[in-house]
Amino acid sequence: MDSLSSLQTPEVAARFTRLKERPVVLDVRGLGRSFAGEQGPVTALENISFEVRRREFLCVLGPSGCGKSTLIRLIAGLDLPTSGQILLDGKEVHGPGSDRGMVFQGYTLFPWRTVKQNVMFGLEMRGEDKPMSEREALQWLHLVGLEKFADSYPLQLSGGMKQRVAIARALANNPRILLMDEPFGALDAQTRANMQQHLLQIWRNVDITVLFITHDLDEAIHLADRILVLKPHPGRIHELIEVPVPRPRSPGQVNDPVFRATKAHIESLIHPPAPLVKPNETLPLFRLTQRGDDVE
Ligand SMILES: Nc1ncnc2c1ncn2[C@@H]1O[C@H](COP(=O)(O)OP(=O)(O)OP(=O)(O)O)[C@@H](O)[C@H]1O
Ligand SMILES: [Mg+2]
Repeated sequence: MDSLSSLQTPEVAARFTRLKERPVVLDVRGLGRSFAGEQGPVTALENISFEVRRREFLCVLGPSGCGKSTLIRLIAGLDLPTSGQILLDGKEVHGPGSDRGMVFQGYTLFPWRTVKQNVMFGLEMRGEDKPMSEREALQWLHLVGLEKFADSYPLQLSGGMKQRVAIARALANNPRILLMDEPFGALDAQTRANMQQHLLQIWRNVDITVLFITHDLDEAIHLADRILVLKPHPGRIHELIEVPVPRPRSPGQVNDPVFRATKAHIESLIHPPAPLVKPNETLPLFRLTQRGDDVE
């Protein structure tokens, strides 16, 4: 039970009950990661434990430097933990694998390959013959609405389209979990909103579990079943929130009272109120204005 559970309608509560009955795909246990810094070791993550269930959409939210990318890199097997372990379908992660699909903020498509050839890459690596991987790639491109651009090159696509190809390419490898590190961070607000809707639609149609990193509260509340809120220095779990906003979600829900209450709660976790300067307190170095100026 978290502090927002009283906002859940019976339908939303029933959804969470069903979610908890689904098998665990990702199991993170007592995870820690320290790096050697100039002034001694830097603990990026400390004692992180959580589970993600099949077809769950989990967002990880937290201020810059709280260890979000470190966490996703560890799960991807691109880095190794200092303590704890990560289990995917019960098997410990020791390195990268096709059971995890990755989508990052930077556009990571191969510029010399067409859109279709980008999506075919993993299929070919898996040893599928060309006609078969071509057919499959076109199906994935259809899913992300880009089959018309199959023969275009990444350079000819907008940022949002590139990320849709990156999603298709990641899904084509048939991963158990999709790991997304601020994938829409470089997009303008309108494209970002469209991509969120698009991703939800893909998630509804494909048997995929999603771990999605963002520092945008609206994005996390709009997308997630649950939100893992981290706090920095060292990165620890602040709270794991069950988002009480009903599905299907729509951009207009940002104005709903339940959405706003969820956002206010997360804001209070991430940005606790700053201490106020008392009116008669002197700020010897920085009070350069005249008291009584009409700005306060
Ligand atoms: N390879 C590394 N070597 C040393 N320190 C590192 C390394 N990678 C991460 N760190 C440190 O670990 C901490 C967490 O970094 P990380 O990139 O995971 O944060 P983040 O939450 O993804 O931040 P942002 O929101 O800015 O992307 C930071 O203090 C960072 O300096
Ligand atoms: Mg990061």
